[in-house]
Amino acid sequence: MSLKPQPADVFEARHNAPSAADQAAMLRTIGVASVAQLIDETVPPAIRLPRALDLPAALSERAFLAKFKQIASQNQVFKSYIGLGYHDTTLPPVIQRNILENPGWYTAYTPYQAEIAQGRLEALINYQTMVIDLTGLEIANASLLDEGTAAAEAMHMLHSQTKKKGAYKYFVSEQVLPQTIDLLHTRATPVGIELVIGDHREADLGGPDFFGAMVQYPAADGEIFDYKDFIASAQKENVFVVMAADLLALTLLTSPGELGADVCVGNSQRFGIPMGYGGPHAGFFSCKDQFKRVIPGRLIGQSIDAAGNKAYRMALQTREQHIRREKATSNICTAQVLLSVLAGMYAVYHGPQRLQQFAINTHALAQTLATGLHGLGVEQTNEFYFDTLNLRLESAEMQQAVRQEAEARHLNFRYFGEVRVGISLNQNTELHDVADILDVFGKVLGKETDAPTALEEVELLAPAGLARTSDYLTHPVFHTHHAEHELLRYMKQLENKDLSLAHSMIALGSCTMKLNATAEMIPVTWAEIGGLHPFAPVEQAKGYQQIFSDLQTWLCEVTGFAAVSLQPNSGAQGEYAGLLAIRGYHEARGDHHRKVALIPSSAHGTNPASAVMAGMEVVVVKSSEDGNIDLDDLKAQATKHADRLAALMVTYPSTHGVYEETIIEICAMIHQYGGRVYMDGANMNAQVGLTSPAIIGADVCHLNLHKTFCIPHGGGGPGVGPIGVVADLAPYLPGHAVVPVEGRSSGAVSAAPWGSASILPISYAYISMMGGDGLQRATELAILNANYIKARLEAHYPVLYTGRHGRCAHEMILDCRHFKKAGIEVEDIAKRLMDYGFHAPTVSFPVAGTLMVEPTESESKAELDRFCDAMIAIRKEIAEVEAGRADAKDNVLKHAPHTAATVLVHDWTRPYSREQAVYPLESVRANKFWPSVSRIDSAYGDRNLICSCTPIEQYVDHEEELVQADKGSSY
Ligand SMILES: Cc1ncc(COP(=O)(O)O)c(C=O)c1O
Repeated sequence: MSLKPQPADVFEARHNAPSAADQAAMLRTIGVASVAQLIDETVPPAIRLPRALDLPAALSERAFLAKFKQIASQNQVFKSYIGLGYHDTTLPPVIQRNILENPGWYTAYTPYQAEIAQGRLEALINYQTMVIDLTGLEIANASLLDEGTAAAEAMHMLHSQTKKKGAYKYFVSEQVLPQTIDLLHTRATPVGIELVIGDHREADLGGPDFFGAMVQYPAADGEIFDYKDFIASAQKENVFVVMAADLLALTLLTSPGELGADVCVGNSQRFGIPMGYGGPHAGFFSCKDQFKRVIPGRLIGQSIDAAGNKAYRMALQTREQHIRREKATSNICTAQVLLSVLAGMYAVYHGPQRLQQFAINTHALAQTLATGLHGLGVEQTNEFYFDTLNLRLESAEMQQAVRQEAEARHLNFRYFGEVRVGISLNQNTELHDVADILDVFGKVLGKETDAPTALEEVELLAPAGLARTSDYLTHPVFHTHHAEHELLRYMKQLENKDLSLAHSMIALGSCTMKLNATAEMIPVTWAEIGGLHPFAPVEQAKGYQQIFSDLQTWLCEVTGFAAVSLQPNSGAQGEYAGLLAIRGYHEARGDHHRKVALIPSSAHGTNPASAVMAGMEVVVVKSSEDGNIDLDDLKAQATKHADRLAALMVTYPSTHGVYEETIIEICAMIHQYGGRVYMDGANMNAQVGLTSPAIIGADVCHLNLHKTFCIPHGGGGPGVGPIGVVADLAPYLPGHAVVPVEGRSSGAVSAAPWGSASILPISYAYISMMGGDGLQRATELAILNANYIKARLEAHYPVLYTGRHGRCAHEMILDCRHFKKAGIEVEDIAKRLMDYGFHAPTVSFPVAGTLMVEPTESESKAELDRFCDAMIAIRKEIAEVEAGRADAKDNVLKHAPHTAATVLVHDWTRPYSREQAVYPLESVRANKFWPSVSRIDSAYGDRNLICSCTPIEQYVDHEEELVQADKGSSY
């Protein structure tokens, strides 16, 4: 017998789930002879890649992890005291392992299907409550992308809300973080807002022009200003005030709400999230109640379910889902859910006392350091400070000497101006660290230092009246889980309420819920990845620089483009950055009037929203009957706006799940009129290795690394949305004011120069372990899986759009509109799927009343069959209603989902059996997922908006009810 050795443990087989036998069976069902034939019938020949992807050969998981360890170890993790919004912190191991490293949490989807998302919705309500309490404002959202973006969102929101007609000036204190100012500039210019940067103590906000102002608390250099009078005088002039604040400092300082601020923004990174060379972290946003209907991002609220029980869901969800298209002031879709869950859990674990103690210790250490430096004769110029000292040295040479000495000891300070040094201490700082810092200065000055031996009691160094007196985090959730077992069980209890990829496939069209392999996730929590400050000297980040450069090269190969920016931290931010690149190009050519963006009606809501943010005028192009862009309308619009045409935004394959044959013609037409083509890359999972944005004729596109390249959805974020561009757009990619990116020192769209750097290793791992062939096969199998589902379901649910040969791309739209006649809505199907153990596909996008199904390549035939069986069984249940055998209202679909409590009632009065309710297929019994609440009444929640933890009084009442109930029951 001859035995042929070959690699036995290939990663591709982990990711591309259908086995050879699966594939053969699926091809038979579809009615094609081979995958190659299917692809030939699906992807138009004119756009096929002429050659295989040129990417490094695939590595095994073991080989990848060994290689990546070497790359990561080129990063030097210094102790960073740079501050500027990023601080060292410790994520409690119990949270790291059970949330950050736990697929039950990180593979969940955005909580649109709230009945199977109660765990993370509760965690987000905790986060919102934490932000509301600490900032002293009335309402908070569930996160924004980072502090800079949150500041820009605040500016836009207030601009839209001002009653001062024509007001266009926005005052920004020069003591706002430099990266925030950079980002505000980027956002202000296209929409005609003028930033006025200055000293808030000298600002004159009188007159008709100013609509808003922004200050930082404590300020960038560490000084604590009392903004009470500034805010009052601004508001007298009808100028709204935004305060950017530090959550840890707020445990000791009077809250922005109490000072009168209209909005408070910031970064919750300090609450346990590794700095990660820039992100991801959850930006926060709180405001007065008057803005609750215009607050950007997602807002989690409380409502009730069909049984009258408390239940959470996204408040005002319809607004968020549609992002208000061209009427939008914000394009936030993916945010930072996983990160806000982590930060909120940090507050749950530590509670107000421990948090305040962290703040007290940090502050006391800062004072100890200041005293020591004073003893050495070093001048510290902050009158009041929390954790940050502002040192004025005698000369630039001395600043240089301090830097050299500090870096030799692996310490990073902030160096600014010619003679300034900033030192920000943090929760991880200990007395010996203060001694080390003092030693640096002692050495430079040639003086002996007295190492502090104990941390003395100190007085709060804040302006009179700014010591915090109000309570915060009073809700029991912040007081009951301080022991590890308590927290562990609380987190598990929440996790158990949520359906994630750890339970079953989540066939979300447009969202690509593919495998997030464990090996891809492992480096994310390595110290060499998490420990770097984003503004650490780049020489310390050699590992990161290699990751960026390799990834950029590979993404250029995949897209066919000349350059890639990794900065945008969501798809929508990528759209915005890409459109700014197009804008920059037109402006540089003197084509200031090119402002029209043509956008097909089927586009995702973020497309028009991003276009508006980039200062463009949106012109909607119709779709034709067959779901393609209406070529005649496109031609008419392009001709009509020829002189002012800036761009076409197009999603490819289309959001209708079809490769439009005319795409090359479409792009050529736009170019002919002087416009550029922006391709929304949400559907890149149907392109990689088969075609590319460059081949179809696009000039710029974003890639959703959180879709196509395996970054998990995290329950609604983080995301990464790099953009690729053709050569002549490369000069207009985002830069960064603090750490220039490839020579570009302005135009930031994210607070950190490389956005959410610490999750890029996930995509790096995916590409490294798949190789070019594996990636191409992933695309082919995504198309195979989708066409298999189509073949199995089309007799039961009409498939709305297909290509010339009757094939869908990697996803398809199932039409459910005709069930309406029988009173069955698409929502009923979505909820009923929960009883079968599935999350619904995408509901009502891009066509209302439909389901968009995208299985991805990571699902086996067995799982696809389970899903199809469930859909077919539901179709039979609908048929019962259609035929009048089941009541139009009192039926198994309308009452879905069914909780354990619903079926465990003493008197079962429903016209169907309990088994039919919860075990509709025999296979469900073996792996039952129990929704924790019944159908949620969203309208009730929107009418009675509650977006923080249940008020304490209600909680007490409820406790009393429980006590009474207990007394009444006899066991
Ligand atoms: C077609 C399309 N474009 C853009 C986006 C926005 O991407 P993100 O949520 O990462 O901002 C989405 C998100 O689902 C999408 O489906």
